[in-house]
Amino acid sequence: MEKILVLDFGGQYNQLIARRVREQHVYAEIKPYHNISVEEIREAGYRGIIFTGGPNSVYDESSPHYDPRVLELGIPVLGICYGHQLMAYMAGGTIASAESGSEYGKTAVAVSPCPLFRDVPESSITWMSHTDFVRVPPEGFRVVARTGKCPCAAMCCEERRLYGVQFHPEVTHTEYGRQMLRNFLYDICGCAGSWTMDDFVARAVAKYGAELAGKKTLLGLSGGVDSSVAAVLLHQAIGDNLTCVFVDHGLLRKGEGDMVEQTFRGYGIRLIRVNAEQRFLDRLAGVTEPERKRKIIGEEFIRVFEDEARKLGKIHVLVQGTIYPDVIESGKGDSAVIKSHHNVGGLPDVMAFDEIVEPLRDLFKDEVRAVGTRLGLPHELVWRQPFPGPGLAVRIIGEITKEKLDLLREADAIFREEIANAGLEQATNQYFAVLTDLRSVGVKGDARAYGWTIALRAVTTDDFMTAEWTRLPYEVLERASSRITGEIASITRVVYDITSKPPATVEWE
Ligand code: XMP
Repeated sequence: MEKILVLDFGGQYNQLIARRVREQHVYAEIKPYHNISVEEIREAGYRGIIFTGGPNSVYDESSPHYDPRVLELGIPVLGICYGHQLMAYMAGGTIASAESGSEYGKTAVAVSPCPLFRDVPESSITWMSHTDFVRVPPEGFRVVARTGKCPCAAMCCEERRLYGVQFHPEVTHTEYGRQMLRNFLYDICGCAGSWTMDDFVARAVAKYGAELAGKKTLLGLSGGVDSSVAAVLLHQAIGDNLTCVFVDHGLLRKGEGDMVEQTFRGYGIRLIRVNAEQRFLDRLAGVTEPERKRKIIGEEFIRVFEDEARKLGKIHVLVQGTIYPDVIESGKGDSAVIKSHHNVGGLPDVMAFDEIVEPLRDLFKDEVRAVGTRLGLPHELVWRQPFPGPGLAVRIIGEITKEKLDLLREADAIFREEIANAGLEQATNQYFAVLTDLRSVGVKGDARAYGWTIALRAVTTDDFMTAEWTRLPYEVLERASSRITGEIASITRVVYDITSKPPATVEWE
């Protein structure tokens, strides 16, 4: 399969670069620059290489550098931002650093004709984010773009098929970024565009149909997009040799468990639903500390799953819903752990399986959704907003009880219904109710009421690493608030969370 290497120098848009390449139907994989040698690149048969941006300056001792022999492989290279500077530096050009040369945000560039800029107008807007810049391109390269501040906003050496751009073609603010990437992939690297989700489905069904024939296969279904898509895909490949175990930990939203069960029974998939609410409630009794809750839920989930698997006798294969962002190693250092993000889909290494299969490990989330749509999964499931593995347990502050879970489920369902009624499901990326640990005085009818406080949260985000609180219309908040206090006797107050991330996180715990 034709593929492009995205050589990661620690930039913030690296995954975006790979996604943009794949949108053009060319497979791209990301590798940290220090984890792949020139020899490995040659052997892997990449059609092209993209050097990503990065936070460093090429003249820093500690900055990521790369073996200059990569430019001699005869494989086309596109350097972006830091990658552009690095390519210039490696080939003998001069890099300069000056505040006066820095550019940030939308910037007009003037380009000259070259294969990278085919069908790109002479003047257009690009997205810049840099302090250093290429002052003198290396010998054999010519300058093909300039801005008011940047003397070499792009350079190329056509015979060697080496290209560098100071701006970010992968960011949508670069008006012709898509066209430039397309030119690089198709005209310069000679790709044919063989990466489509139809082909992916056909290939995966054929591959697993052959590899897993006659093997008893087990999948932990959570009802999230990834495990759902993996289930339907593998069911197409191996039919009744697939058994899905759905552990309902009782921490799901209103009606969710039944929806999952009905959907997968509708496909004729062998499904075991384990109603384990009481087991989880027992283990969580008296626990208030968020990380402890996550740990208990993660452990108990594995136990329940193991108990169920044992009843099935010998299982040969375990399916995991791992997707590409989970397996990408980054070119950056380790970042601090804010939350452990236990994913209850993450299943035990200790269990005795002959094999683990991860059918979605090469796919980004948008590709998983595209596969789900092709497999006919319902829209609500394919476009389901993210829901944390530990479920409502991290949306109830303090101790978890059945009564609180039921209260929260009702309030959350009302909020979601009002968002849907207002047609705002696509206008916010994640929205939910939180049951705070706070009671306050209210008045219901003519009587004093002392009830719980519900917080509503809605966030707008691309990647959930940072998020803005969504500016929901007051009327929607008003309807949600009056319905929640009106329909649920023990709730007297509703507040709206107006904190972005950072400093807050999306979930309250
Ligand atoms: P935070 O709260 O860290 O959330 O800003 C970012 C995204 O991650 C989800 N989240 C989790 N997902 N297990 C999960 O599978 C967890 O323990 C967990 N905690 C948070 C959260 O819903 C948001 O989408």
